[in-house]
Amino acid sequence: MKISVFDTHKYDQNALEKENEKYKFQINFLEARLTEQSALLAKGSDVVCCFVNDRLNAKTLKILKEMGVKLIALRSAGFNHVDLKVAYELELKVVRVPEYSPYAVAEHAVALLSTLNRKIHRAYNRVHEMNFSLEGLTGYDLHGKTVGILGTGKIGKVFAKIMYGFGCHLIAYDKEHDQKLVSEFNVKYVDLDKIYTDSDIISLHIPLTPETHHIINAKAFKQMKQNVVLINTGRGGLIDTKALIQSLKSHTIAGACLDVYEEEDGVFFSDLSEIGIQDDLLARLLTFPNVLITAHQAFLTEEALSNIAETTLMNIKEFSEGAQLSHEVLPSKS
Ligand code: NAI
Repeated sequence: MKISVFDTHKYDQNALEKENEKYKFQINFLEARLTEQSALLAKGSDVVCCFVNDRLNAKTLKILKEMGVKLIALRSAGFNHVDLKVAYELELKVVRVPEYSPYAVAEHAVALLSTLNRKIHRAYNRVHEMNFSLEGLTGYDLHGKTVGILGTGKIGKVFAKIMYGFGCHLIAYDKEHDQKLVSEFNVKYVDLDKIYTDSDIISLHIPLTPETHHIINAKAFKQMKQNVVLINTGRGGLIDTKALIQSLKSHTIAGACLDVYEEEDGVFFSDLSEIGIQDDLLARLLTFPNVLITAHQAFLTEEALSNIAETTLMNIKEFSEGAQLSHEVLPSKS
């Protein structure tokens, strides 16, 4: 099996090379993101291995198919960046890593919240300038606050348990209700309106689908408490960025912790420090002192990288042996 790995960073390469000692696949590591333009780099490969900001639209998939690629091995859980219908029509199999560390993502969401709330980012800079004043650094106790969780799947569940440990009241919105969360962690499932009106903190852990696109929009912001902090480690497209900026400008929300952004392709994972950014909405978000942004980093732990490498190469091995694919992704029937 010849594999082309797109959007490779040192940390991906290290983890995949270590895991590949078992398999001895021929791996071609490429720094480029997969796009219609870069797809030709996969020439001669049986498999392309992609991450969240690779663009697997119809055109790219057709080029890959024409070049003889047979399998798309996603290194991610999310697959909203793949045109699954076209992949299916082209008989290109798609596999993913459904779970690599829900702890990595949930813990990052909590890290962002604590940093923003206790203003650690500002304090860190301040003490390095020998400014030991505490003015402007007041936070609040998380204990006793109401946390609204959208999505209580693998990541949302871990997030709920951590926040329960802080002594928060938990309300949640999900199509499926997890009775263990209800009985053991006192989670109350409520409708979306109640999440918006009652939460002091809202954290997003649902996938991006046509149904959830811009689920946090101007109408949702209008319903929220003025002291609400919004955390998004899900996908950028869950939030209407223009509406978020409007709420931040009018001080109708207290802050936002963002690990994902709807137009992050081509920006996140790149060092643009010499050239700057073209995206005016992202530039505006960066001006707010109550917005904390990380560049899709929530997954980035040693454990997660090693699990991603393990499942990815196991997925490829199953394919190479013609075995049943444990983690195949198919288009939804609707
Ligand atoms: P999961 O599939 O275990 O949980 C998703 C939950 O959302 C499920 O309980 C499901 O019932 C619920 N859900 C789906 N559509 C819904 C809808 N329309 N309305 C209400 N509930 C709905 O997924 P997991 O592993 O917890 O991941 C959640 C998301 O986190 C992923 O889809 C991905 O976008 C994001 N993610 C972000 C990472 C990062 O580094 N920032 C890393 C990994 C995942």
